[in-house]
Amino acid sequence: MLDINKIREKFPSLNSKDSNGNDIIYLDGPGGTQVPSNVINGISNYYKKYNANTHGEFITSIETDRIMGELRSKAASLLGAEDGKCISIGQNMTSLNFSLARCLSKIFNEGDELIISELDHEANRGPWKTLEDIGVKIIEIELMPNGELNYDDFSKKINDKTVMVAVGMSSNALGTMNKIDRIRDIVKKYKCLFLLDAVHYAPHFSIDVKKLDCDFLLCSAYKFYGPHMSFLYSRPGLLDKLDADRLIVQDQDAPYRIETGTLNHAACHGVSKAIDFISELGIGTNYREKIIDSYKKLSSHEFNLASQLFDGLKKLKNIQIIGPDFSSRKRTPTVSFIHKSKSANEICKELARHNICAWDGHFYALKAIQKLGLEKKGGVTRLGISVYNQSYEIDKTIKILSSI
Ligand SMILES: Cc1ncc(COP(=O)(O)O)c(C=O)c1O
Repeated sequence: MLDINKIREKFPSLNSKDSNGNDIIYLDGPGGTQVPSNVINGISNYYKKYNANTHGEFITSIETDRIMGELRSKAASLLGAEDGKCISIGQNMTSLNFSLARCLSKIFNEGDELIISELDHEANRGPWKTLEDIGVKIIEIELMPNGELNYDDFSKKINDKTVMVAVGMSSNALGTMNKIDRIRDIVKKYKCLFLLDAVHYAPHFSIDVKKLDCDFLLCSAYKFYGPHMSFLYSRPGLLDKLDADRLIVQDQDAPYRIETGTLNHAACHGVSKAIDFISELGIGTNYREKIIDSYKKLSSHEFNLASQLFDGLKKLKNIQIIGPDFSSRKRTPTVSFIHKSKSANEICKELARHNICAWDGHFYALKAIQKLGLEKKGGVTRLGISVYNQSYEIDKTIKILSSI
């Protein structure tokens, strides 16, 4: 069991009050979580003690090289990757995925087929759609009205012409957890690349890239208590074979090969600290074991609160929940809904009046919201649970929604 009060003490922003002295309730985690003190101090200490560019002979540069290496190996532990050489760093997932799509455009050919899903965030759709310019056919796995992917449709669409399957592990709009093992087992019957968008998954569940048997996986640290920065896992040896856009003067090998210019070293140090924050919630004999144990605890806490939220919302006659229910644990703690008479934006404004932070709209999962016929209604209101949320916040939110 996690001691949530103790965890909350680590987050300075959780002490913030509005001008009337009222607390703020953060249910906006799927758009980016709050940040603990060790991350804030890590970023600040970088500027106080280590600020320099990389690869110099002097102390701050040597320290910066160490900090960058440390992040890569901690990120490798987070993902169960072979080592830090599999981890490339970028300013966000979207730009890393665009860079990767451009690399792959040099090896894919006209008539090749690439599978994406209707459920995914545009960051895992748009970059792949650019390959239509070279004649790659983009094929989409159907999203069903219940918020799940149609796996039979996927089985029918994959074939010998498929060069890549790029899907999300879970939906940032609906909280759906995709059946990645099922998708992987099908993918492995073909000679195609397998990419996973773990941006909405990584804050809630542990990841093991070796078990997933994926070629690429992307996630963003600002969704799991870190600063705005992302990384890409590439299967060992794979990135070195790709022709990434890069300068002739930079490191030519993986993981640097796909990175451009000077990175945000302070943020990278902050990401290491965010991974430390996660690991410190768990117990184990090594860093990876602690991370896995931590995720078990935090996902159980989040699932309980999200089920409480789901059950409470289900009882409200003006509200319709969009997305899978909580009858199985295969669900992220993100609950989206529509209101009978108010738009998602009006609901968020009303919640904001009570200091509850929540998002409305499509959250860039535009195709899914269109497919569900919700775009014209302004999309959905999304409430996301993070490790620092507590039961009374959910009660209060349900109470306010019951009066709208
Ligand atoms: C599932 C998912 N994929 C991709 C992204 C894009 O991530 P980034 O903001 O790092 O580009 C997001 C952001 O919300 C997301 O939720």
